[in-house]
Amino acid sequence: MIDLSTTITGIKLKNPLMNASGALCMTKEELHELGASSSGAFISKSCTLLARDGNPEPRYADFSGGSINSMGLPNPGYQFYTSFFPELAKYTKPLFASVSGLSLADNVQIIKTFSEVKALSAIELNLSCPNVPGKPQVGYDFEHSAEYIHAVSKICKKPLGVKLPPYFDFAHFEQMAAIINKSNIAFVTCINSLGNGLVIDPAKEQVVIKPKGGYGGIGGSCVKPIALSNVHKFRELLKPSIQVIGCGGVTSGTDVFEHLLAGADVVQVGTTLVQYGPKVFDRLLKELEIIMKKKQYSSLVDCKGKLKQLS
Ligand code: SIN
Repeated sequence: MIDLSTTITGIKLKNPLMNASGALCMTKEELHELGASSSGAFISKSCTLLARDGNPEPRYADFSGGSINSMGLPNPGYQFYTSFFPELAKYTKPLFASVSGLSLADNVQIIKTFSEVKALSAIELNLSCPNVPGKPQVGYDFEHSAEYIHAVSKICKKPLGVKLPPYFDFAHFEQMAAIINKSNIAFVTCINSLGNGLVIDPAKEQVVIKPKGGYGGIGGSCVKPIALSNVHKFRELLKPSIQVIGCGGVTSGTDVFEHLLAGADVVQVGTTLVQYGPKVFDRLLKELEIIMKKKQYSSLVDCKGKLKQLS
């Protein structure tokens, strides 16, 4: 028997998989389906203070290496989730809420309210949505990020994590890690989509999504090396008590295994979940088990963070 269980911020998960916020987790039906799936935990769509329709459609498209989206935070508003979350308590696995208020004051108000919702295990503050016109990604502005993290940690009564954009420079990893190490953030989620990519349909000679002139966040297999570097670097730079959720490029059990090797405690699935639906967790878990068995590992501790360097 292979033990796939893991722990994040003291919360036990029966396996390390969960959905990435944004992937099939906005409506009641979608969240019930995730609750009933084989994932170890689940998270709701990033919510704002007021309901939003999001950007004009088409706003999501698959391409050969992954997906592009410019959803623009469509969601029914935080009050919808506040009253709906208790219904999800029947799925006896941890439920996370993702929060992406359009201002610091909005985030404070939402997180204050969510702090009192018993059905919630943890809160993930999204500092990295690239798709709201006129709202730059907070995670690329270190001063602003520090201000957000400081204010929100003061009022949050649940374990609090931050979802980060991908970083590409060691100096930036170090700056963000220093901010987080000084806070009471319990986990980081690396990475949100690679902001403002452009996918072109050569036959039609046009972009594939409507908002923002075709620019959107890139996810799926092509982002895996960047996701892994961010997981690995933050694992190296953060205090051991701050945990890392890996997100990006997970299409198979091997990809989950690589995130674990890089140091992830939990692994989120985005594009692949959108493409195949919540049943995909069954396949990913089976594939992960096969790899672990082949390597004669009996639990995640045997491989977590054990990435080897070349001598
Ligand atoms: C969106 O709703 O635009 C996606 C959310 C995100 O990437 O954070």
